[in-house]
Amino acid sequence: MKIPFVAGNWKMNLSVDEAVKFLQDIKGKLPDPKVTETCIAASPLFLESMIQENVGSSLLISAENCFYEDEGAYTGETSPKALHEMGVTHVIIGHSERRKYFNETDDIINKKVHAAFRNHLTPIVCCDETMSRRESSDRISWVVSQVTNALKSIDPQQAQHIIVAYEPSWAIGSGKTASTDEAEEGCYLIRQTIADLYSDDLANQVRVLYGGSVNDDNADEILAQTDIDGVLAGGASLKSDSFLKLANFLQK
Ligand code: 13P
Repeated sequence: MKIPFVAGNWKMNLSVDEAVKFLQDIKGKLPDPKVTETCIAASPLFLESMIQENVGSSLLISAENCFYEDEGAYTGETSPKALHEMGVTHVIIGHSERRKYFNETDDIINKKVHAAFRNHLTPIVCCDETMSRRESSDRISWVVSQVTNALKSIDPQQAQHIIVAYEPSWAIGSGKTASTDEAEEGCYLIRQTIADLYSDDLANQVRVLYGGSVNDDNADEILAQTDIDGVLAGGASLKSDSFLKLANFLQK
């Protein structure tokens, strides 16, 4: 049985002290990781302190991004190898904000997925959908191509561990959550794409998340959908009490 996955993406928010205080606040209050896995993705500046504070907790610590080479002359980039060595287990790849502000292409994202697996990090691959794409006729093909390109040359042993998040950018930070039908439709489309690339069995093992204005009020309805195995929350993950509500919502 798939274990639901509740993740927070802090983006470029909070301070090291606030990050550590957050972990202190949630200690002992997270669900059993056999029931729900929980994860926070934070700035590389916070990760060392968070990992130290997190000892004994089931919270998984994720980076928000990494580079696609392990080391070398890449000023300002974050090494996936160093992330693994410091105890990070997950990494978000291809968030719509990275596609939009840092010109990340499908090719770069695919290289990063390879780099994550090479360094024993679980990639949380984000699949965007802009409003103009949503309203256009190539909407489905765009979602399909993002997933297909991200997974290029990823073998089934690796692919079964990937986490994919349907994160329509029109719903991110806008307070405009996708309806449950829209969220389910996007996640279903991602799962079908994975089934076409690999197999139904493998697609059913992969956890597909929804992200975009998730909060304590809408999470239970979203999480009740067949193809939604968890959430990737931005704003609602910044406060320990709202993150704990999300983490403890799941009944699946
Ligand atoms: P919000 O929950 O703030 O809309 O952000 C979603 C997101 O981008 C998570 O990666």
